[in-house]
Amino acid sequence: MKQSIVRSTGRFLPDRVVTNDDLAAWMDTTDEWIQQRTGIRERRWVSGEGELGVSDLGLDASKIALERAGWTPEDIDMIIFATLSPDIFFPGPGCLLQHKLGLSSTPAVDIRQQCTGFLYGLMTADAYIKSGYANRILFVGAEIHSTGLDISTKGRDVTVIFGDGAGALCIEGDQTAGNKGVLACSLHAQGKYADALMTEAPASRLNPRISANMVEEGRHYPTMDGRNVFKLAITRLPQVSKVVLDQAGMSMDDIDLVIPHQANLRINQAFGQSMGIPEDKMFHNIQRYGNTTAGSIPIAIDEAIEMGLIREGSTVLFAGLGAGLTWGAMIYRF
Ligand code: COA
Repeated sequence: MKQSIVRSTGRFLPDRVVTNDDLAAWMDTTDEWIQQRTGIRERRWVSGEGELGVSDLGLDASKIALERAGWTPEDIDMIIFATLSPDIFFPGPGCLLQHKLGLSSTPAVDIRQQCTGFLYGLMTADAYIKSGYANRILFVGAEIHSTGLDISTKGRDVTVIFGDGAGALCIEGDQTAGNKGVLACSLHAQGKYADALMTEAPASRLNPRISANMVEEGRHYPTMDGRNVFKLAITRLPQVSKVVLDQAGMSMDDIDLVIPHQANLRINQAFGQSMGIPEDKMFHNIQRYGNTTAGSIPIAIDEAIEMGLIREGSTVLFAGLGAGLTWGAMIYRF
């Protein structure tokens, strides 16, 4: 059977570094509070000047991945774009990126699964590849959170967490790959918890979808029940990781590296402890980038490859939980 092989990766982080002290100048918070609760020291935010959308960040990451794969845009059979922060309400950034790559009719799919956008996106790519419909897929996970955050004290619990960034992967079907690619995967969603982390407006269930009053009330900003999300994450990430280890007939000893979604360093440390994962097998970069949601695991993969932590044959456990509620885990061999 064909396997979905990651041929190359790329990432793009905006140049502008926003430190915890920068945030403390706009809202009632401190570097100490943020680092203690989340591990985050700084994040990247777009400058906020001019019109720069998430498809532009995705384009920069894609150009690097395409060059490393030795592909031209014309080699791509399909684009899969995961984000919760589209350039505009519709159409989605997959179509916008397709045009920016100079393509005329290559299909583009958008994934709206927030922090598990990478897991759902890679499974979608894998299904298209295994069905024979597409063989070369460009996957992008990217976010621009910064233009949609409340930087006053009212929004501090959410705003300190999120950062902007993009990661891209060139994924190709390979008949001769053997025991590589997606070895096990378990995906979940529970809409019951949709309001634990959400941005309400603009909303089709409201008429009008957005108004001056709603903006006044801050209903266009994300809201989060942080404690609940924290509790859900530290119980479900180990559960779903054990499921994929069982599926693959593996133990943690067979895993070379664990790349959890970078939501909160404390969540990932608790996850690591409950699974007995040695510190040197856990990948963290949230200290520098904050939570880049759909961008987080793709950016981490690109960095881990660059650092020599992922090589040909490496077996990696990915796990994530976030808005939806959605969560999942995957074992992937490079
Ligand atoms: N700076 C300073 N104080 C802050 C603050 C900030 N940025 N954000 C909230 N606070 C205050 C609260 O107002 C509260 O004050 P009070 O006790 O006077 O009411 C106090 O800190 C404690 O708030 P609480 O929300 O209970 O803190 P917490 O220990 O639960 O930490 C999070 C908050 C958001 C860091 C934590 O819940 C978390 O990380 N949750 C998971 C979030 C997540 O991962 N989301 C992404 C999922 S993809």
